[in-house]
Amino acid sequence: MESRPANRNSDPNLNPDPNSVGPPSVLTYLDPHYWDERFSSEEHYEWFKDYSHFQHLIKSNIKTSSSVLELGCGNSQLCDEMYKDGIVDITCIDLSSVAVQKMQSRLVSKGYKEIKVVQADMLELPFSNESFDVVIEKGTMDVLFVDAGDPWNPRQETVSKVMATLEGVHRVLKPDGVFISITFGQPHFRRPLFKDPKFTWSMEYNTFGDGFHYFFYILRKGKRCNEEKEEDEKCNDPSISLYQDELEGEDYIFRTHIDGDED
Ligand SMILES: C[S@@+](CC[C@H](N)C(=O)[O-])C[C@H]1O[C@@H](n2cnc3c(N)ncnc32)[C@H](O)[C@@H]1O
Repeated sequence: MESRPANRNSDPNLNPDPNSVGPPSVLTYLDPHYWDERFSSEEHYEWFKDYSHFQHLIKSNIKTSSSVLELGCGNSQLCDEMYKDGIVDITCIDLSSVAVQKMQSRLVSKGYKEIKVVQADMLELPFSNESFDVVIEKGTMDVLFVDAGDPWNPRQETVSKVMATLEGVHRVLKPDGVFISITFGQPHFRRPLFKDPKFTWSMEYNTFGDGFHYFFYILRKGKRCNEEKEEDEKCNDPSISLYQDELEGEDYIFRTHIDGDED
């Protein structure tokens, strides 16, 4: 278990850093009004790491001809960066109408006309079965975990929301499609959900980042092996190590709570 600075608050839901830009409680991330209000004034915030840290993993897992669905785009530049790398058939969704409207304006102003942006809930994806080669999310499913309670034994309500999202993702993926989840959620917490018997995908992951690692999960639909033989594969690509203070930034607050507070 990684060591972390002790949480100064007795309530683990509270933001431990009074100088942080984040909301006073991580539970606020579950409130759609919070995101609308935030996106009204914020032009860009990149959760976790920017594209340069995992570009090599995107390039090795997404073909330029792929149709890609991004869940919870917010005001991230992930879709812009994929577009610049030649992946142009992209559909972004977000629950926040403000995020959607501002993302649409930004992409039009850049001339990235192929990228579609739709207001939608990832728990009820409004797309046909088998319609995307790739579904990708960065930090969006993590929002569902902020009220999970014990990370080893998450609340049933949290599990239901996560499973509804995963079932939708599995449904809209083509038979050989790939789900990419970029998160700080560690394999021992994600594995029981990702590897539910109803899913036909295999699971492997890479890490990136310095100090705190972020995870880049790759779930390949239709590639699940027999349970006896199946082992999660941790790819051997070197993780990127950059000199950056990862304790700064809002995702630290987010992560501290979700990883549990065993200190
Ligand atoms: C932590 S931010 C991540 C934003 C972006 N993916 C990034 O990497 O910077 C979570 C985003 O998910 C969106 N969101 C939250 N719940 C959602 C849901 N049920 N369906 C779709 N988007 C959702 C929020 O509006 C917000 O834009």
